[in-house]
Amino acid sequence: MIVTGRACDEETAVEQSMKETAVEVRAVYRTFEAEVAPVRALRGADLTVTAGEFVAVMGPSGCGKSTLLNLIAGLDVPDEGEVFVAGESLRGKDANDLARMRRTHIGIVFQFFNLLEGMTVQENVVMPALIAGVKRKAAETRARDLLDLLGLPDKAKAAPTTLSGGQRQRLAIARALANRPTVLLADEPTGALDSDGGDEILELFRRLHDDSGQTIVLITHDQPVADAASRLVRMRDGRVVDDGSAGATGIAVSVNASE
Ligand SMILES: Nc1ncnc2c1ncn2[C@@H]1O[C@H](COP(=O)(O)OP(=O)(O)OP(=O)(O)O)[C@@H](O)[C@H]1O
Ligand SMILES: [Mg+2]
Repeated sequence: MIVTGRACDEETAVEQSMKETAVEVRAVYRTFEAEVAPVRALRGADLTVTAGEFVAVMGPSGCGKSTLLNLIAGLDVPDEGEVFVAGESLRGKDANDLARMRRTHIGIVFQFFNLLEGMTVQENVVMPALIAGVKRKAAETRARDLLDLLGLPDKAKAAPTTLSGGQRQRLAIARALANRPTVLLADEPTGALDSDGGDEILELFRRLHDDSGQTIVLITHDQPVADAASRLVRMRDGRVVDDGSAGATGIAVSVNASE
C-alpha cells in the first residue's frame, strides 16, 4: 500500500513538473543570411521557464534576445534545436499550426505597441478573442474586465491615437492577455516610454505576476525593470550565459553591466 502510494505521488510529481514548464528552449541555433557574412544570432541557447515565473532577459544589443523571443512565439523557426510551449514541441508545425499555438498560448507586447489604430480601445482587446473563436459577448466581457484591470475603463470607446504612451502600452498588454495566454512575452515594453510611463508598466507586470500568477518573459535594458522580475537571465553572443536559476541568482544580480 505504502509503495503504491509513493508511486502515485511520484507520478503526480512528474506529471506536475511537466505541466509546470511553460517554455523550454533546447540548444537552439539561428543564423540569418546577410550581405557581408551570415549573422549567427543564436548559438546554442537554452532556457526553461516554469509556469508562474516572471523572467527578465538582459544582454548587450545584438546578442539574440529578440530572436529568442520570436522563436518562443513561433514567429520564426530555429535552424537547430527545439522549442516547447506548454509541453508541446513547435518542431514541424506549419504556419497555420504556429498561428493556432500563438492564439492559445502566447501574448506578445512589443516596444512600439503595434495597436490597430482604426479601431477603438475596446475593439483592440476584443479582436484577438474573436479571431480565436470566442463569442462576441464573452470577448467583450473579457475586454471590459481587462481594461478595468489595466486602469483603462473610461477609455473603451477612445481611439488608440488619443492615448498617452503608457496608456497605449497598457492597451497592448490588455490585448496580449485577451486569450489568457500561457506566457506573456514582452520585448522592451518600457523602451519607448518616459520614466513615469515605464514605472506604470513595470508596476502592472509586477501585479500580473503577483496577483494572477501570469508567466512572463520580458526583455529589457533597464535594471529597475529586471529587478522587478523573479529571475534574471543573461544572454551574450547568442547564448544564455546565466539563467539565474537556483544558486546563480546572486551572481546574476551582482553582474551589473551597463546595458
Ligand atoms: N531578420 C534578420 N535578418 C538578418 N539579421 C537579423 C535578423 N534578425 C536579427 N538579425 C541579427 O541577429 C542578431 C541578433 O538580433 P536580435 O534582434 O535578436 O538582438 P537583440 O539582442 O534583441 O538586440 P537589441 O537589444 O538591440 O534589440 C543581430 O546581429 C541582428 O542584426
Ligand atoms: Mg531586440
